[in-house]
Amino acid sequence: MSETLTADEVQTLLDDAAAAIEEIAGAGADRLEELRVQWLGRKAGRLAQALRALGSLPADERGAVGSRLNACKQDLTAALEARHSALARGATAATADVDWTMPGRSRWRGARHPVTRVVNEICDIFREIGFTRVVGPEAETEEYNFTKLNIPLDHPAADMHDTFYLSPGVVLRTHTSPMQARTMERFPPPIRIVVPGQAYRRDPFDASHAPVFEQIEGLVVDEGVSFVDFKAGIDYFVHRFFSSDTAVRFRPSYFPFTEPSAEVDVQCQICGGSGEACSTCKGTGWMEIMGAGMVHPAVFENCGIDPERYTGYAFGMGPHRIAQVRYGLPDIRLLFGNDMRFLDQFVGSR
Ligand code: DAH
Repeated sequence: MSETLTADEVQTLLDDAAAAIEEIAGAGADRLEELRVQWLGRKAGRLAQALRALGSLPADERGAVGSRLNACKQDLTAALEARHSALARGATAATADVDWTMPGRSRWRGARHPVTRVVNEICDIFREIGFTRVVGPEAETEEYNFTKLNIPLDHPAADMHDTFYLSPGVVLRTHTSPMQARTMERFPPPIRIVVPGQAYRRDPFDASHAPVFEQIEGLVVDEGVSFVDFKAGIDYFVHRFFSSDTAVRFRPSYFPFTEPSAEVDVQCQICGGSGEACSTCKGTGWMEIMGAGMVHPAVFENCGIDPERYTGYAFGMGPHRIAQVRYGLPDIRLLFGNDMRFLDQFVGSR
């Protein structure tokens, strides 16, 4: 601006200042500083220049123009200060195309997989009653996977687990039970452990089978552990994990490493046990959740524990299956698919 000032120039200046005040209201920090220097800079600021040029106006106009310029300076200062504190409070630069009425975008949050949750929850329940969580190798010898557990290699039970062989004598473990033997060999009783981990079988991948799946093994060894302790331990777990009024039943069964052996069923969580038109429990009202039993004396002997002095119980359950039971999933493959539309349902739940 020149050293002289005309009435037109004053009007342009005031109009520009009004536009600047509007821009200030939505400016980001950098732009705000530019506008401050441009308008209120002591030397080159437009207002300072105009005020210096006041003298070039006819004497009878100076007073009126001077007070308009001062009012404009105050307005600019107030607008700059207001925007400054708004930015300090966390406001962001506004641009004309922001729609402030749009719903916020929430950030994607990771969450634990439902099977991991189930594993942790089960292990936590057992930890509260004195069990230690241990893990073991997925590549196992036939000896630990079968023979130490009283499963001779030519026994049909060895077939029952259709096995992946890595090399002669070395398998991908078909269950987490080998950790019973590894623990008993290393640690003297009393023993209370839970062993979560993956197991492998040459099963077809269908609605209720997968070639790799999670298992949790449990083992208790001490003097005087009875069948009553066994039933009470399992009952306690079921009531903590499902609900205190979930019915439990023990069905006689057979496993080479337990005697007697049982399969444990819980009241179907989907139909409440009525079985009516229930595809989850296939109309029976019950769902099997684990194999279990009193540790076979031959297993104790194989692991260097005196079966005359010690007794114990063991169990093995499948967290994929338990997640299926708990969440009423029609197909176990949902738990392997990593489809975010499925997994997102578990974000924020327990
Ligand atoms: N290992 C068995 C399986 O994979 C499950 C099992 C049954 C484990 C009975 C146990 C048990 O500890 O006592 O089919």
